Amino acid sequence: MTKPFVIALDGPAAAGKGTLAKRLAAHYNLAYLDTGSLYRAVGLAVLRAGGDPTDPAAATEAAKTLGHDLLSDPELRSAKAGDASSKVAAIPGVRAALFDWQRRFAAEPQPDVDGKKRSGSVLDGRDIGTVICPEAEVKIFVTASAEARANRRLKELQARGEEAIYARVLEDIRARDARDAARADAPMKAAEDAVHLDTSDLDIDQVFAKAKAIVEERLKR
Ligand code: CDP
Repeated sequence: MTKPFVIALDGPAAAGKGTLAKRLAAHYNLAYLDTGSLYRAVGLAVLRAGGDPTDPAAATEAAKTLGHDLLSDPELRSAKAGDASSKVAAIPGVRAALFDWQRRFAAEPQPDVDGKKRSGSVLDGRDIGTVICPEAEVKIFVTASAEARANRRLKELQARGEEAIYARVLEDIRARDARDAARADAPMKAAEDAVHLDTSDLDIDQVFAKAKAIVEERLKR
């Protein structure tokens, strides 16, 4: 069997990875895994059990027993789950519990809605190009200024009906980026062979066009 084609998208909070990943997956007939939702689900599970997301034992247990239903919970995208996610994500036991699952997803063809096999996958997160899929054919590190990202996240939270103010969202994003970049285990980092894509001044179509050009360039090699 040929090795499935993998696109790894990494980068800081609210840089637009999810939207780009979905567009790329649809365009190239690839499966999509939002790895951040796994950490958000673990964070949410700990909060709902009344626990502390920085407690290694509670967070690791939640990661080991993570149920699939939680992965589609609307509360995953809340600010509260976002904050808890980067706390549980710093715990090595949590990362270890989620590692195999992510590797398997990237390695195995995923069935399409119509039963047709997809030819590979797009994974977005913080450590896809460095730790989860270091062998990925395409690696893109998606960035944007903290202000642009805070504006996008503010709109997303308000669209969900959450009360959110810009200054607080910006502060949360900065705190989460700092935690994600500073942790010892699989910190957020661009892989050496990743192409950097700054989306601060680009709309979705422009980001997609640039990413598509990066993929096409890699496919030529
Ligand atoms: O959507 P947003 O960019 O705000 O974040 P996310 O992708 O949903 O990820 C939530 C949190 O999960 C991040 O802040 C990281 O702490 C953690 N995460 C991680 O550690 N490794 C990944 N591969 C993906 C997410």
